[in-house]
Amino acid sequence: MAISTRVSAQEEIEIPYFNPSSGPYLGRAMSTNKKEKLYLPLKIGDANHIFLLGKTGYGKTSFMKAMAEALWIYYHEVFGKEVMIIIFERKYDYSKYQKLKQFWIKRIQELGKAEASRRHPFLAKYFEIQEKHPQLKHMLGFPGDFAMGLPNYILIDTYISKRPYPVDIFTWHGLRPRSFPTRRIVFRPTRSIYAIKLDNGPDAEVVEGHIQYKHLTFDMLTQKFDIPKGTAYGRLIRKYWKVYGVHDPKNLLSMIYSQEQVRESTWESIRSIMEEIAADPLYVKDNQKDFTTFLTTDRINIIDFSDNSNLDLDEQRLIMYLLWQRLKAIAGKKRVDIWIFFDEIQDLIGTAGEASKHNLAWRAMEELYRKGRSLSINVVAGTQYLYRLPMSLIMGAAHIAVIGALASPKDLDILRVAIMDGEKLRIPVEHDSFEEFIKRRKKKGRGWFSFDREFTVKMYFRPNQSF
Ligand SMILES: Nc1ncnc2c1ncn2[C@@H]1O[C@H](COP(=O)(O)OP(=O)(O)OP(=O)(O)O)[C@@H](O)[C@H]1O
Ligand SMILES: [Mg+2]
Repeated sequence: MAISTRVSAQEEIEIPYFNPSSGPYLGRAMSTNKKEKLYLPLKIGDANHIFLLGKTGYGKTSFMKAMAEALWIYYHEVFGKEVMIIIFERKYDYSKYQKLKQFWIKRIQELGKAEASRRHPFLAKYFEIQEKHPQLKHMLGFPGDFAMGLPNYILIDTYISKRPYPVDIFTWHGLRPRSFPTRRIVFRPTRSIYAIKLDNGPDAEVVEGHIQYKHLTFDMLTQKFDIPKGTAYGRLIRKYWKVYGVHDPKNLLSMIYSQEQVRESTWESIRSIMEEIAADPLYVKDNQKDFTTFLTTDRINIIDFSDNSNLDLDEQRLIMYLLWQRLKAIAGKKRVDIWIFFDEIQDLIGTAGEASKHNLAWRAMEELYRKGRSLSINVVAGTQYLYRLPMSLIMGAAHIAVIGALASPKDLDILRVAIMDGEKLRIPVEHDSFEEFIKRRKKKGRGWFSFDREFTVKMYFRPNQSF
């Protein structure tokens, strides 16, 4: 009797969680004097989806970057395990460049050029290249929102306290500026790859990504080239591209030329469309490598949807869907944990009204959320407004964070339902008043983190070590 009781007691204390005090570092609690350090309670073999909410300008993107860093460090330096991190980047940030330039000028004033260059060799070289090569200058100055290949120097001038001795924000968190190895995948690049690489720091690698012709569906073709239904050339393209599966513009042309009797005007229409596709650098033949072959566990992968890439929304959604298809295979075969970050998720998936299986980004997101669990694929998504998005995004999240303030009172209502201790929440809803504007500076990088949507902590978020 006694023995069997002991056995069952042992089974009961088995904890499915990873030790929360040693997970990726999230930041420090605000409520107590001790300002305890808080860590993400990673659940192995389960989904750890995180949803980030916050009005513009309080540090949503910064915290997302900080979380990617925390995960990278944790997997590599604590856990000793491979991880695949993929970040969908929405934009680049010219103001960041200007702040970097100001920082550099200030450093030169403080330290003299020689010492400043010794401490920040990359910055010295970066600004020197711009001086020396005026032809490059108009192409530079656009580091991405996730320019993680460069240390985040500019935040070292932000202090938590000045007395009795100055403590900057990094030191307070036990961190320092540093870069992370990144691989940036650009599509139909709008400027030289070299310029994109320079802008994103010495630890950045840039590659050009492609999509195979077979993923360019006939429906996409008709939209792209305004092919009206029922025209002779539309029917022929449909027959060869869709029915016969000839996903190669040059082949298709020669097949139609040799096998069909067509009028001059029909032939001209088909020829101009196929030549345009053949000249499009986004697409490659089905036997060539597509962008997913660049995905790596050796670097943080950045899917560059900023203005570095010339893509329309449908193409971006297709890329997101193809990525998800590929990740299923990788997760199954390699047994590697995968983390995907979507900043400004509403841009990609659209609002609740756009939820349909034809919206590939929405479909990918739905599947990622549901099937990610069994594949160890985790989604971190961020947005300003919640109330127009599919509710599954928030109800399927393990944790919810609010950065700074909410952008809408409706979102506070939703949060109060979604979070177990939600009625207690006193999250400000920003009303764009002048007073709020003044207060904003103080609220940057602060907010609430709801662990398992059960227990919400007010906290100072981990600052981003990379730019
Ligand atoms: N912990 C912090 N302490 C001080 N400043 C911070 C902190 N985190 C971010 N910032 C600063 O706040 C500014 C806005 O940050 P960020 O771009 O991350 O905000 P956002 O919410 O993503 O805004 P947007 O909607 O414009 O994308 C940046 O200049 C950043 O340097
Ligand atoms: Mg942002």
